[in-house]
Order: sequence, then structure tokens, then C-alpha cells
Amino acid sequence: MTVKEIKIGIIGFGTVGAGVAANILANSDVIASRAGVKLVLAKVADLDITTDRGVRIPEGVLTTDAAEAIREADIVVELVGGTTVAKKFILDAIRAGKPVVTANKALLALHGEEIFSAAEAAGVDVYYEASVAGGIPIIKALREGLVSNRIHRIYGIMNGTCNYILTRMENEGADFNTVLADAQKLGYAEANPSLDIDGFDTAHKTAILAALAFGEWFGLDPVHVEGIRDLELADLRYAEELGYRIKLLSVIKESEGNVQMSVRPTLIPRNTLLANISDVFNGVLVEGDTVGQTLFYGRGAGRNATASAVVADLTDVAINLAVGSVRRTPAFRSGKLFRRVLTMEESESRFYLRLQVRDCPGVIASIAQILADKSISISSLIQHERREADGTVALVILTHSAAEKSLRAALAELATLSINQSPVKLMRIEDI
Ligand code: HSE
Repeated sequence: MTVKEIKIGIIGFGTVGAGVAANILANSDVIASRAGVKLVLAKVADLDITTDRGVRIPEGVLTTDAAEAIREADIVVELVGGTTVAKKFILDAIRAGKPVVTANKALLALHGEEIFSAAEAAGVDVYYEASVAGGIPIIKALREGLVSNRIHRIYGIMNGTCNYILTRMENEGADFNTVLADAQKLGYAEANPSLDIDGFDTAHKTAILAALAFGEWFGLDPVHVEGIRDLELADLRYAEELGYRIKLLSVIKESEGNVQMSVRPTLIPRNTLLANISDVFNGVLVEGDTVGQTLFYGRGAGRNATASAVVADLTDVAINLAVGSVRRTPAFRSGKLFRRVLTMEESESRFYLRLQVRDCPGVIASIAQILADKSISISSLIQHERREADGTVALVILTHSAAEKSLRAALAELATLSINQSPVKLMRIEDI
């Protein structure tokens, strides 16, 4: 059986670009054996081609000219990142009739519609497995393996940097900024780590999964985003005491045909598989009407995990080219599978509240009365005897499911009480 050679042009020779080049050079025989196509590294383009990236690129492959990589390749890989030049390279490649593989979640979340329309018009493939959850094939799972399901819920731990930080804070009591610096050294964090810790990287990934599940390219607007920057060790400890673990959780939920999307630090029960996904690992739980719950687990960040997903896409596209079956699974097909997007005000959830209060008679009574007036039922409550240096104590309350609107109204009233010494810490609970 003949093995068809497919020329690959990589634009962007950073951490992931080097990983992709290394994987193609090391494993193209494995891929050829399994898939019947041989990936050949034709061009690797970057403005900086002198820094040692730890991979020996064959003579004549490195170039500073991205247009050359597009011209000489059968498939173009965009690994520049960002939303400006990366978009231009992708659109240039598509207009030149070249299929594209990208890991660029921010670009797709914001401009996916434009890119997919251009690909449709040009009749080329665009694949983007590495844009969500690193090495986990979650996009292929949603597009193919779970295609027969109406999706009810997706819960995702999808930022390796945040999961690494939370795990080390919880296990070692480590300081947030020290652990973030370690995540940067390990190549997990984005060039701008605010994208990780403020939740936007997870929001980009949430927007992509929601689009695949519900047939509309939502963009970022409907995704409510909160990061982990303000999370304190005390909250991790109280969560532990109550039988929960805090994760930066992407939540995509369908209810009566309506969809809700958010990214927030969230308490999940410690005895669930999702709660036990630690370090840089990611986990995505998908619940479909037919299959029930499925859970996908693996490395969510880092050079090799991301390269694995990029090269899997390259192989898919190469097979399509080899058999002349382009766009067998289109990059994205719009076809609305929901009624409307719910605002956070319309949502319901269980809540975690931490109040720092004066330790005097009637404090719990007045707080409980405010919650009762808003029909918010308390499910658990902790107050330890130990006081802080300023004489206050922490009061931690878990609620049963309550309307977000009622909770907000209760918080506004709590803020007016003189017993309350600092803003209330608020987080959602998902019982998975
Ligand atoms: N910065 C991202 C993370 C890389 O930490 O998960 C993968 O998207």
C-alpha cells in the first residue's frame, strides 16, 4: 500500500511549535503505519530562528517568511498565538486553498465564525483540537464520538496553570505568586498569565465547547467569567473541611432548552473524579442524553501534550487530503440546538459564603434572617472558636439551591450590617 507524503508548514516556532516539529520528526513512521500518510516537515517559520528550541530542524526548513511556509505546505499549522497576525496567517492560508490546524483558542473564541465561513467558502479544513484541554481529544469526542447525543452538561477543569496553582496551594499551603512563577517556568502559563488566572483562557475554551454542543458560535459575551486571583488559602481549607475541593470550573448547562455558561472558582465534592484531577491535568465531564456521563482526562498544557493534539489534527487533515474527502467533518456547523442563553441573574445554584464577622450576640440570627427573607436555605454552617487578631471570626455558610437574584439581594443587605467586617466571599457549589 502506498503512503502519501503530506508537506507541513508550521508558523510559530515557540514552545508548542518546537513540540510539533519534534513529534513529526520522531513519530512520522508511527503515523504512517497507522494512518497511511507520511507527515513531512517542509517549513517552520518564525521571526526568531536562532534561539535553540531543543529540536534539530533539518537544513533548509527554518525560514523567517510565513508566506513561504504557506506557499510550500499542503497543510499550514498556526502556532503564533494572539488574535492579530495569527488571524491574518490563517485567512491567508485558507484563501490560498490550504487547510489549517491551529491551537489558538482566543482567536477561535473571538473570530471563529469568520474563520469557519472563510474555510467553507474555500472548501478547506480547519482543525483545532489543541485549542481546548491540551492533549485530551475532547473536540473530536464532541464532533464525532458523542454526535448522537443532546448535550445536557459539560463541566471542565481546562486550565492547567490554575489547576497546578490550586493543587499546590491546597497541598503545600504554597503562596499564589510563587506557584504561578513555577507554572510559567514549566511552560504551562500563557505569555500573559492573566489570561490563565483571571479565567479568560478557560472562557475561550468554554465558548468553543459550547458552540460544538449547541450549534451556535457564541463568542465570549455570554460566558460569565471569574478567576482565581482573589482565592485565599482559608477558602481552600474551609472547602476541605466541608467535603469539597475548589476548582476553576467551566460550566455549560442546558435546562429546559436554555443554556448557561460560566467560568468560576467552584466547590465540587471531594469524592468525585473531577475533584481529584490535580496539577497541570485537565478533566472534562460531558453528559449526553444517550450516553450519560463521560469523563476525559489528560495533560491540559505543556509542549508535548499540546503537540500530540496538533499532530493528531494534522493526521486527520492529511488523511482527508490523501483520500480526497475534504470537510468530511466540517470545522463547525451552525444549527441552533437550544432556545436561548440564560443570564447569570436567571440562574440557580448552591452557594458558599464566607463572612468575617464580629463575635457578638445575634450575629448568626441576623444573617440567617436576611437569608430566610430571601427564601435561601442554609445547608451547612461553620464557626470556629479561634478569633482573628482583630477579634473577628469567620462564618462559613453553604446554602441549598437558590436563585442568583435572591442571593445577590441578600448580599446587598448583608453588606449593610455592622457585624460584617469585610466583603463576603462568594462561590458556587456544583454537586456534579
Ligand atoms: N495556559 C494554558 C493552560 C495552556 O494553563 O492550560 C493550554 O491552553
